[in-house]
Parts: sequence; C-alpha cells; structure tokens
Amino acid sequence: MPDAMHDRLKALSETARTEIAAAQTAQQLEALKGRFLGKKGELSAVLGSMGKLPPEERKAIGEVANTVKGELEALLEQAQKRLEDAALDEELKGPKLDVTLPGRAVAFGRRHPVSQTLEDIVRVFSRLGFEVYSGPEIELDWYNFEALNVPADHPARDMQDTFYVDAHWLPKGVGPVVLRTHTSPVQIRTMLAHKPPVRGVMPGRVYRKDSDQTHTPMFHQVEGLLVDETVTFAELKGTLAAFARAFFGASTKTRFRPSFFPFTEPSAEVDVSCVFCGGKGCRVCKHTGWLEVLGSGMVHPNVFKHAGYDASKVTGFAFGMGVERLAMLRYGIDDLRTMFENDARFLAQF
Ligand code: DAH
Repeated sequence: MPDAMHDRLKALSETARTEIAAAQTAQQLEALKGRFLGKKGELSAVLGSMGKLPPEERKAIGEVANTVKGELEALLEQAQKRLEDAALDEELKGPKLDVTLPGRAVAFGRRHPVSQTLEDIVRVFSRLGFEVYSGPEIELDWYNFEALNVPADHPARDMQDTFYVDAHWLPKGVGPVVLRTHTSPVQIRTMLAHKPPVRGVMPGRVYRKDSDQTHTPMFHQVEGLLVDETVTFAELKGTLAAFARAFFGASTKTRFRPSFFPFTEPSAEVDVSCVFCGGKGCRVCKHTGWLEVLGSGMVHPNVFKHAGYDASKVTGFAFGMGVERLAMLRYGIDDLRTMFENDARFLAQF
C-alpha cells in the first residue's frame, strides 16, 4: 500500500514537471496549479486516500507529499518567471515597431487667405494714419441706403439686392432692417459719432443676393473715409496710388475712370496695372492691361448732411474695396467660392 502511494506521488510529480516545463502561457500555468495543487487537485486526491494507512506510514508518506508539493510550487514560480522574462524580452526586441515609417505630422492651423488679405489692407492704411472703425452687419435700411443718398426707389438698389430681416418688433417707422450690402454705412455711423476731421478704414462682412464664380452671398469689404476742411481729389488719388504700390508691389500703376456712386460726386473706379502680366495684356485682365479693384469718390454733400456734418465747411473722399477680389488677384485664385468651402488642402496653400 505505501509503495503504491509512493508510486502515485512519483508519477504525479513527473507529469507535473513535464507539463509545467511545457507551459507557454500564464493561463496554462494557472490551470496546472489548480490541477495539481488545488483543493480538488491531484495531490489532494492522493493525500485523501492516506486516511486508510496506519499512522506511522501516514507520516512518512505525508513528508514525501509535502516535499512534492514544495517542489511543484517552486517549479510553478520559476515557470512564471520564465514566461514573464520571455514576454519582456519580446517587448524589448520590439519587432512590431517600424521605425522607418514616416511620422504623423501635426497639422498646424493658419489664418484664412481672406483674413490675411484684410489685415494686410488695414495695415497699409494704418501706416498712412487711418484708424479702424466698425459697424453692425445687421443694419437699418436708413444707414445702408437712405443716408448714403440712395432713396427707396433708386435704381442703384437693384445692384445691391440683399437679405431683409424680419424686425416687426422695432418701433414703427424705424425699419426696414437689412444685412448690410456694403461697408459704406459705417461711414455714416463714424461721422455721427465723431466730429471732423475723420480718417478711418472700416473692414467687415457684407451680404448680397449673388452667387457665381466671382460672387458669394457673403463677402468682405474695406471702406475708407477721410474728411477734413480742404480734402481734394488729388489726395484721394495719392492715397489710393500709395495703397496699390504697397499692396501689389512698387511698380504698380493706378488709373482712375469716371464712374457713378450715389454717395460720391465725382466718383471714380480705380484700376491697377495687371498683377499677372505687368500691364502687357493677358487672359486675367482680358488683354486690357488693367484690373478694376475699387470704387471711390468725393463724399456727396447729401451724405454729409445725413451724417450731421456741415457740407459748406468740410470736404472728404471715400473708397470701398472687396477683400476677396484682392485676395484672388494677389494669390491667383480663379474661383471665389473655394474660399468658403473649408477644404484644408486649398486653405493650407496661403
Ligand atoms: N459701396 C460701394 C460698393 O459696395 C463701393 C464704394 C464706392 C465705396 C465708392 C465708397 C465709394 O466709399 O466712395 O460697391
């Protein structure tokens, strides 16, 4: 009987050694531990049958069983260490990391070409001593049209059809309310708020019922206004020629063509020598050598009247330019709508 028990313990110990040595994972080890040393494990089963032995033999077998138990515990511990070391080695070898792969670049944001252009325009006029003023984008019809000498039935309103805002909550006779069609109403607001002299630029968003390759329903303008006692058309020309040279380059020429705006008299459309061909004539300037860039003129006496200035005491000039148009010319962009499609591949080029 005791010999039989001995043999069982020996066999158990041998099987356990082989299996522990062959274990490849922590889970396998855990299972082996349960199978041999657990409460319902094989060693317990052997010990359970020890009750039938006489006491002195029981002691001897018990000792052997304890030795086997101790050995197996030590083996399990070693095996666990072996697996952990192997896992660490594997990790340190790091074959899954391909250091030759290109890195993931961090995408930096940048200022929108319209913002850059707008800031550049304002910077040039700041150097000429102009201050920056602003006004609301949701504007009273009166500032946007009436005060600028564009009465309700004036045909000039056709060119600046816009979005009307439902403002029934306003006191009677105050409306209508529009999304401003140009930055010119800020001229009126600035003059109403400041005594002459005034020398300012007024950048901002404007809105029109327009949409094609060169028009979007929302775009940006920079308005200019200079009022003092003896402002002349020559100063208007000098100021805008200086702007054109600073913005488009020192060799840029300027041309003034007679035009009409209700809020200026006389009025002039300003062209610059084509930035693409230098004035020789190309597709962009339609072979004229010139590009139209802004509208301007001497402030109309009716505008002064509406703004509370004495038209017999002051004169002034004004101008207005489209920021997107200048950005398109500067960067050679041929579709204005791309500016507002938020395609990072397009925007990242500027
Ligand atoms: N407001 C005009 C437009 O949007 C541009 C303009 C022309 C502004 C002449 C002016 C000006 O101040 O004097 O078409």
